[in-house]
Amino acid sequence: RSMVVKAEGAQAINPEIRKTEDKVVDSVVVSELSKPLTPYCRCWRSGTFPLCDGSHVKHNKATGDNVGPLLLKKQ
Ligand code: FES
Repeated sequence: RSMVVKAEGAQAINPEIRKTEDKVVDSVVVSELSKPLTPYCRCWRSGTFPLCDGSHVKHNKATGDNVGPLLLKKQ
């Protein structure tokens, strides 16, 4: 894993879940979705909450955290 530099004042929001992974992402397969893939934010930083807009990347770099979206996948 690469060296993590934490920004001053920034705090991780995931203290214990799967910390050996670079980014925690889970998927759920759903049969009735209008789009093939819908990412839901779990870092609380998205500008399009509840959908993920990629803001977790900046949050993870600033805090050393490893949060990522929940992916709803169309079956
Ligand atoms: Fe929050 Fe992607 S922006 S998980």
